[in-house]
Amino acid sequence: MSNKTFYVTTPIYYVNDVPHIGHAYTTVLADVLSRYHKLLGDEVFFLTGTDEHGQKVQQAAEKRGVTPQAHCDEYSERFKSAWKDLNIDFNHFIRTTDKAHVEYVQRKMEELWNKKLPSGESLIYDKEYSGWYSTSEERFFSEDELVDGKDPISNRAVEWITEKNYFFRMSAFQEKLIHYIEIEKPDFILPDFRKNEVLGFLKQPLRDLCISRPKSRLNWGITLPDPDYVAYVWVDALLNYASAVDGKKFKTIGNNVWPADFHLIGKDILTTHAIYWTTLLMALEMPLPKHILAHGWWMIDNARMSKTTGNVVSPLAMKDKYGVDAFRFFLIREMTMGYDATFSDAIFVTRLNASLANDVGNGLSRVLKLAEFLEFKLDYSQDNFSEYVRFGNSSASAQPQLFAYESLINTSRAVIRELPGMVEKVFLSFALDSHVGLFGDLNRYLEVSAPWKLAKGGEVEKRLLNNILWHCSEAMRIGFTLLHPVMPKKMDEALAALGWTFEESQKQLVWRDSGSFSLKSISPLFPRIDTKTIPVADAPGKTESTDPFSSVELRAVKILSVEDHPNAEALYVLQVDAGGETRTVCAGLRKHLTKEELIGKMGVLVANLKPASLRGVMSQGMMLAADSEGGKLSLANPESAQPGDAITAEGLESHPKPQINLKDFEKCPLAAKGGKVHYKGKELRSPHGAVLAQAPDGAVVK
Ligand code: MSP
Repeated sequence: MSNKTFYVTTPIYYVNDVPHIGHAYTTVLADVLSRYHKLLGDEVFFLTGTDEHGQKVQQAAEKRGVTPQAHCDEYSERFKSAWKDLNIDFNHFIRTTDKAHVEYVQRKMEELWNKKLPSGESLIYDKEYSGWYSTSEERFFSEDELVDGKDPISNRAVEWITEKNYFFRMSAFQEKLIHYIEIEKPDFILPDFRKNEVLGFLKQPLRDLCISRPKSRLNWGITLPDPDYVAYVWVDALLNYASAVDGKKFKTIGNNVWPADFHLIGKDILTTHAIYWTTLLMALEMPLPKHILAHGWWMIDNARMSKTTGNVVSPLAMKDKYGVDAFRFFLIREMTMGYDATFSDAIFVTRLNASLANDVGNGLSRVLKLAEFLEFKLDYSQDNFSEYVRFGNSSASAQPQLFAYESLINTSRAVIRELPGMVEKVFLSFALDSHVGLFGDLNRYLEVSAPWKLAKGGEVEKRLLNNILWHCSEAMRIGFTLLHPVMPKKMDEALAALGWTFEESQKQLVWRDSGSFSLKSISPLFPRIDTKTIPVADAPGKTESTDPFSSVELRAVKILSVEDHPNAEALYVLQVDAGGETRTVCAGLRKHLTKEELIGKMGVLVANLKPASLRGVMSQGMMLAADSEGGKLSLANPESAQPGDAITAEGLESHPKPQINLKDFEKCPLAAKGGKVHYKGKELRSPHGAVLAQAPDGAVVK
């Protein structure tokens, strides 16, 4: 029976966009998470939808010669139908042009307009405002936020405009927000390093938020209490999470659906969620969401997949090519929560062949083939392992079998036991890994117990064959049930081959000691994909996922200050901006570079190196430097990178471990070539350019 409730949201997608795998990822993640919660007996509400107001929509509609509403009606459908094709089981699809949403936003704005802070100040005030406005991002930027005079996000031109606008006194909530994130709810923003980024941002004074747009400039929006203005599109959009469930209650417990348990978002929209949304809710005195989880980006050739970059991959094309379930599996398995992941056909096919074809599909095929000898009927009742010992004639020859058998049962029990924790923490990539691992155990068990040798034997052999296949079928039943949230269709088929339905099997999510199976032969679940059909440049093998370098986290950092180490002549103690967090790093550069040569410079930090005390100063990582001419060291320089940017080796997967040892890092030889740092001939890069080294070819970088 259900004893908990779970409300999960995805961002609402800009209606103008064509769904790409960035959008598909969050939506599939929300779907898989919802299905896991249901599997664990929770009542779920899953919300997704489209973000339909704003200048870009107005302009796109004008260009097409249709009304904005007609434009939205048509374009919103593309998301809805894509999600249907990806087997997404949402409870509600919200559109910000829905009447109920519009009215809700107006009510909440009215409420804000009338509210005062305890100090007597009103929450909303108007002000004549001048600033650099970006049409593309639909917001103002301050002078120091501009990059080369352009909008820092879209890199498009900005214009200077002056107008009266309404402001939300966000600044009044700064302390409360910091306290909430840091003390009251330390797992509010996940993963942890993103929380630190937000807290880093909150060290600067928080500005008030401009929440209006004059209708003279934009009228495709929700009218504010001042009828000459519409709501800033983010305020309108964020309120979707609450408007969609206004007045709704969960059936089982009768509690309100709001607040959300999880807002799933991409890292680029963390500020709007963690800061704008949270303070707005505080101002409205509404309950706050329990978690905001920011995932990384899908990258292609080291660039973020996006419409602007023009490198988008269509989720529907992937579904057509590899099947919806394999695609869902790939998305969830491949992205480690919080980090960027690389997308390519080669990585996809490698993953598919290794996990789904070899482990999962193959396990089932082997059992079904052998079950034919028993007319597909298996029965088992507490017949314990002594059978094997007898069959092997000596306990020594039965030892490996015993080991494989116990491991299969233990793993089955462990994956069931670990599921709630994994789901709660949204460690779904790890969960899938361990579910597939169960099939690895099963295949090993088949290897060592060699049941094919029993197939043509007498009664005793048949009984042993029955027992072995029964154990395998039970393990598979558990495995298929646990993989069902990710691959519902394929796992329905797989369970049917075991004579089970998902609904029945989930009620018995335990390793049973007895029971029967009535199996049925089916065609291979996940046929192997022929790697010859993949373009050579993209062929597997080029993406060595097990390469030691993939576990290293390199980050671009900016050196903020340099001091002499109090206790070691060769060392400096640096403070570096590592993207929202400041780290202390000891660096052996004192003989090589002056403080002036370092301060303000960018460098590359080995960011997940286990912190170590160097002569009494705790160093949180290590800076990369190259052996230059004359025995001097020079700093590796990530050209045009921003602090916090990930540095990866071109074409190599990156799955940084939370922590590595120096020894792990030393397995990854870095060298200079053509003035750039390389790993095994692959250039190290940030999203903005290569990592430079002022050093001769072949010089070691360490
Ligand atoms: N409309 C806003 C969200 C409002 S929520 C109140 C928006 N929409 S979006 O369509 O541009 O982006 C939606 C989501 O897609 C974001 O979470 C973003 O991180 C995600 N992605 C866009 N490109 C992505 C990748 N390449 N990889 C992974 N996700 C990325 O922002």
